[in-house]
Amino acid sequence: MKGKVDVLLGAVWGDEGKGKIVDYLTPKYDIVCRFQGGNNAGHTICFNGEKYVLHLIPSGIFNDNCINIIGNGVVIDPIELLKEIKMLENKGIDVKSRLYISKKAHLILPSHKLLDRANEESRGESKIGSTLKGIGPVYTDKVSRNGIRVGDIFGDIKDMVFNLTSIHWSKMTTGFLTSTTASELDHQKENKLFLDACDELKEYNIIDSEYYINQALSESKSILAEGAQGALLDVDFGTYPFVTSSNTTVGGVITGLGVPPQKINKVIGIFKAYTTRVGSGPFPTELGGGTGDKMRNLGQEYGATTGRPRRCGWLDLPLLKYSCMINGITELHMMKLDVLDTFNDIKVCTGYIVNGGDTSQIPYNYDDIVTPIYENFDGWNTQIGDVKSYSDLPKDCKKYIEFIEKYLGVPIKLVSLGPDREATIEKNPQ
Ligand code: GDP
Ligand code: IMO
Ligand code: MG
Repeated sequence: MKGKVDVLLGAVWGDEGKGKIVDYLTPKYDIVCRFQGGNNAGHTICFNGEKYVLHLIPSGIFNDNCINIIGNGVVIDPIELLKEIKMLENKGIDVKSRLYISKKAHLILPSHKLLDRANEESRGESKIGSTLKGIGPVYTDKVSRNGIRVGDIFGDIKDMVFNLTSIHWSKMTTGFLTSTTASELDHQKENKLFLDACDELKEYNIIDSEYYINQALSESKSILAEGAQGALLDVDFGTYPFVTSSNTTVGGVITGLGVPPQKINKVIGIFKAYTTRVGSGPFPTELGGGTGDKMRNLGQEYGATTGRPRRCGWLDLPLLKYSCMINGITELHMMKLDVLDTFNDIKVCTGYIVNGGDTSQIPYNYDDIVTPIYENFDGWNTQIGDVKSYSDLPKDCKKYIEFIEKYLGVPIKLVSLGPDREATIEKNPQ
């Protein structure tokens, strides 16, 4: 809608297929913005036989008419950002004229990555399973008012970097945190690479993105905000402490771009036809053994950023309902339905037994969950990858979709049947 911001959010634990759908929707928008997270994200886009994985650059970059903004709420590793820009430029995609970066986005230093590793090592058995991209430590510095921002690259950033690095270094060497991988020499070499990358970044469009975005809205431009991670990884509402360090839910759009709440129009929640999670933390419907392995193989469930195998399980409706509530989701997009094609029996969790009683509310402490309660569905045992309209889906498949829609009370407007742009059907196309 003109003059408004639509939002696309991961509704579960990330990797729902946000990249694919942002790319699919991009022709409808003038601007696509990332508003939180960093290169812990890995968003996959497939078209014309090519596959791209984006970590920091918004997934609108493949459309020539679309401006892409990395908003103030994002954290940027300049070395990784330049790698990504070059990867796209090598494929003939013009990035420079269509990518805008907020001056207020915080920078990830090499020592943030070392701290991430040291933090994980010090947690031992209870490690988060971080992507080790420095995300937690950089947001910690932002909130504790020690951070360095993109706009600082135009000033005397070298001193700022060395000062912050020495704070990090002392944290790692005073015994509180230890790192088996850090060495002071590597540290200085890395800082040089970091400073070179900051220098190179000066050639790009570094802007006051909150002014740019609000001006664009006043000119009736349409904006899509692209979430990273998922609602259950939100630092406030996720499965704390097994979360990321930003607000992945709708509030993150307001703080991460500087748009007023009245400007938000649609909130699109995206989820898989089953559930996955990468990293540690609770996962009530997780499947061990054969069924989980089958899902992982058929869905190619390996992390787009770290390559780690994703944990797999049945769809968890109480989690999704919570996500709809927190985010005010106005429509849902269901991804990877084709992965369930060969399952004879499909289960969906509709509630839990917690401390002996039934509930559909997700608990404060997941250790209390004894058993998920499941509803059983017959599989459709048909390949659906080439289906082109909703009405042509098998009856049992539609039954599955419509049950979920009814439980959640939110329409499922799009169903995805394969990684490619083309393998997408809209339920009631306008
Ligand atoms: P994101 O982080 O939310 O953008 O998702 P990822 O890119 O990390 O993970 C989604 C994976 O599923 C990618 O490998 C996509 O190419 C793939 N994918 C997306 N939609 C579909 C689909 O409908 N069916 C299948 N089989 N794969 C899909
Ligand atoms: P996209 O945008 C799935 C997970 C990590 C770990 C936790 C904290 O591709 O959906 P961090 O690196 O932030 O300290 O990790 O969050 N995680 C993701 N899981 N998809 C992602 O992004 C993720 N980004 C972080 O695995 O459990
Ligand atoms: Mg991903």
